[in-house]
Amino acid sequence: MNRISFQFISEPTDINFGGNVHGGAVMKWIDQTAYTCARSWAETYCVTVYVGGIRFYRPINIGDVVKIDSYVIYTGKTSIHIAVDVYARKVDHIIFEKKTHCVIVFVSVDSNGKPLEVKKWIPKTEHEKELESYAISLKNLRLKIEDEMKPFLDKDNALN
Ligand SMILES: CC(C)(COP(=O)(O)OP(=O)(O)OC[C@H]1O[C@@H](n2cnc3c(N)ncnc32)[C@H](O)[C@@H]1OP(=O)(O)O)[C@@H](O)C(=O)NCCC(=O)NCCS
Repeated sequence: MNRISFQFISEPTDINFGGNVHGGAVMKWIDQTAYTCARSWAETYCVTVYVGGIRFYRPINIGDVVKIDSYVIYTGKTSIHIAVDVYARKVDHIIFEKKTHCVIVFVSVDSNGKPLEVKKWIPKTEHEKELESYAISLKNLRLKIEDEMKPFLDKDNALN
């Protein structure tokens, strides 16, 4: 299975200080949906290795219907790259509005946490091929970002 979708209503417990849905709640839903997708593809336990570029376009209100679509867009030797789109709508509306999009990378691991090979996802349609190219571009950009962040990831080099 290369695609998973969740739908539910945002609850009063998901609230932030401004009265809308908390960004942390959205990140948790993204991780849960993407994990289910990666886990279903890999058929093994998977861990999150990278979450990138979450941009919240518009707030989500409490009581909105939230829809989260996640789908495989690339597989490496042991990694599964999942794109996630988050939508919401008022319960009495029909049309969903896109609220955020991101790509999460998972690694299939064995019971000792050691990376395991995953079956290859092969894009078939033009759109799937575009998605695979997109994942590869992000992967290359990530290497540059990691280089830039390296001094701050060093445990002996605190920011403050
Ligand atoms: C994920 C983990 C098992 C990878 O172990 P590792 O020794 O770094 O393994 P490797 O270097 O062989 O990398 C494994 C895969 O991760 C990918 N990877 C590593 N760093 C990455 C990064 N920054 N972004 C995206 N993918 C990355 C590699 O490209 C490789 O994929 P590939 O086989 O498809 O090419 C290890 O880093 C880990 O356990 N991390 C903690 C995971 C976790 O606890 N997540 C929950 C959030 S705290």
